[in-house]
Amino acid sequence: MIPPPLPSFSSSVVYVEAQNLPSHVGIIMDGNGRWAQLRGRERVDGHREGSKAVRRIVRAARRLGVRALTLYAFSEQNWARPDLEVEALMQLLHDFLLTERDDILENGIRLNAIGNLGRLPPDVRAVLDPLRKESEDHDDMTLTLALSYGGREEIAAAARELARDVATGKLSPDDVTEASLHASMPSLRVGDPDLVIRTGGERRISNFLLYGLAYAELHFADVLWPDFTEADFYEAIASFQARERRFGLVGKAAEPDARVSGPPPAVESVTILRRVG
Ligand code: FPP
Repeated sequence: MIPPPLPSFSSSVVYVEAQNLPSHVGIIMDGNGRWAQLRGRERVDGHREGSKAVRRIVRAARRLGVRALTLYAFSEQNWARPDLEVEALMQLLHDFLLTERDDILENGIRLNAIGNLGRLPPDVRAVLDPLRKESEDHDDMTLTLALSYGGREEIAAAARELARDVATGKLSPDDVTEASLHASMPSLRVGDPDLVIRTGGERRISNFLLYGLAYAELHFADVLWPDFTEADFYEAIASFQARERRFGLVGKAAEPDARVSGPPPAVESVTILRRVG
């Protein structure tokens, strides 16, 4: 008997196992401005909609059992945007920290921030700092917000710190190694990023997590950040799981040893239907 044809949506099913997950996922959330422009609206509206996507994706990552999620929320270079846009972004960040506080604390999430935090407005620091402190012992997932962040700036700061230690005799020049630089980078305390996702259709890194990116898998999604759904996120994870990571090695040596370990994920797998077209 001829089998019935497969349902027409079969190619749009994404199945993600909560195993072999990327331990640390970084996201360059791009496309808020274009999302707003396409609708004849102010750029700020795109950022507001982008905040909703942040909430969605933090929940999706936690649900699947991702151990660390780093979001590029505001770059060091973003200060040069118009004052109104910068103020709106800071307000959204402030509101996000207030409204998500309970969820963060109830879901075992450690809230962290990296970047030149001294440049943030006092009202943002007033909600950010206590939440970092309150959640510091949580270890189900670390959510890191990259704020006033730049990858080159981070490398320069790490080099400065080591140079000072050499100048005071605490270290010798030979102690300035790949490993000591790594250890001096706040973005890598949760480990190197395994997967970096960029939304918005551009294929570049824009000064994000530069030192840690050495062996990261990159996933570029054409969808604009405010439209980025749980399904898009899981699809990026599925694409990571389908890749062979070799870290510059070959043969047996390239096979992964213990992958991610940690508390069991909230779910065993996720099956989702992708939008078609
Ligand atoms: C890039 O889009 C996005 C940003 C510069 C800011 C990201 C901010 C959010 C997602 C919302 C607030 C953040 C939190 C954590 C609540 P773009 O404006 O450069 O977009 P474009 O390339 O289309 O102009």
